[in-house]
Amino acid sequence: MTKLLQTIEPILWRDERLHLLDQRVLPHKENWLEFHDSDAVAEAIKTMVVRGAPAIGVTAAYGVVLAAREAWFSAGENWQEAINPPLKRLAASRPTAVNLSWAIDRMKTASASLSKYESPEPALLTFAQQIHQEDVKANRTMGQYGADLLDNDSIVLTHCNAGALATAGFGTALGVIRQGFIDGKIEHVYVDETRPWLQGSRLTAWELMQEGIPMTLHADVAAGALMASGQLDWVIVGADRIASNGDTANKIGTYSLAVLAKYHGVKVMVVAPTTTIDWSIDNGSQIPIEQRTGSEVSEIDGRAIAPAEVHVSNPAFDVTPAELIDAIVTESGVVRSPSKENMKQLKSEEEK
Ligand code: MRU
Repeated sequence: MTKLLQTIEPILWRDERLHLLDQRVLPHKENWLEFHDSDAVAEAIKTMVVRGAPAIGVTAAYGVVLAAREAWFSAGENWQEAINPPLKRLAASRPTAVNLSWAIDRMKTASASLSKYESPEPALLTFAQQIHQEDVKANRTMGQYGADLLDNDSIVLTHCNAGALATAGFGTALGVIRQGFIDGKIEHVYVDETRPWLQGSRLTAWELMQEGIPMTLHADVAAGALMASGQLDWVIVGADRIASNGDTANKIGTYSLAVLAKYHGVKVMVVAPTTTIDWSIDNGSQIPIEQRTGSEVSEIDGRAIAPAEVHVSNPAFDVTPAELIDAIVTESGVVRSPSKENMKQLKSEEEK
């Protein structure tokens, strides 16, 4: 049981550097990369060395620490101005997950109260470590809240990777599945391979198999037939950005799953920390959706699987309307049948 609760932590700060587990080469290689400059951290987020909304938020917080170090060395008492360009580059590294700008804004607010005559690095490191620890704590709380919604011996499906690798540790959707397994609520997990980047087959399958949680990998297109067979109880996924009415952006394909789930009477649970909620937007149409390079679709491991120069569309996320979601699970509480009104109750809970 203890082993189940000690999951991999993909982000480490050690020897004054940021260390990231390179998620591009998992599950075949466990390779850690070291970072000591903020632009390299922005590039690591863009190229998916680290991915998953909470994980990129925590990574960006450490990126701000490195940017502060650089600004102090290059500009001394003018570090508060010098830090802005690298922070803009960090914020622009991926557009959809709001955790990224949330973490940078929180670090910027913290930096505004620091003296211009002293290195900001030690204080900002403490703030980044707080963000890091809060994420693990939130995941464990959500894990229990979500598991409590499941009946015993549930059969569930998850999409993408919302596991320990996508967070500071333990995971959101996989946090619920982990806790649910411990509590006897999970009989079996179906894992969508998650085309095109294969977060399901490369990362989620790896995490679940390490812990002996019974699972089956299938192609994304198999989900409908599974639901039609009547076996599935829940679809459990993470989120990249949740609008104030509960509309949810998550990995491309989540919307299709939610529509299928509605038709087949399967319930849908979104699990995300409150740092994923963007209270400034009214609905999902305002969420920026990242378009990634076409080669992620037209090639596998650098080998072409489509005609040369084929035109490709590769949106990385889609938006699931709140009405297709049964519950949004956060560390501040569970919103059932999310809507503008029901989300407001969560906001007041959060502000207490
Ligand atoms: O493109 P990715 O791999 O960063 O997309 C990740 C997802 O869509 C996850 O489901 C989401 O970030 C939640 S992770 C806890």
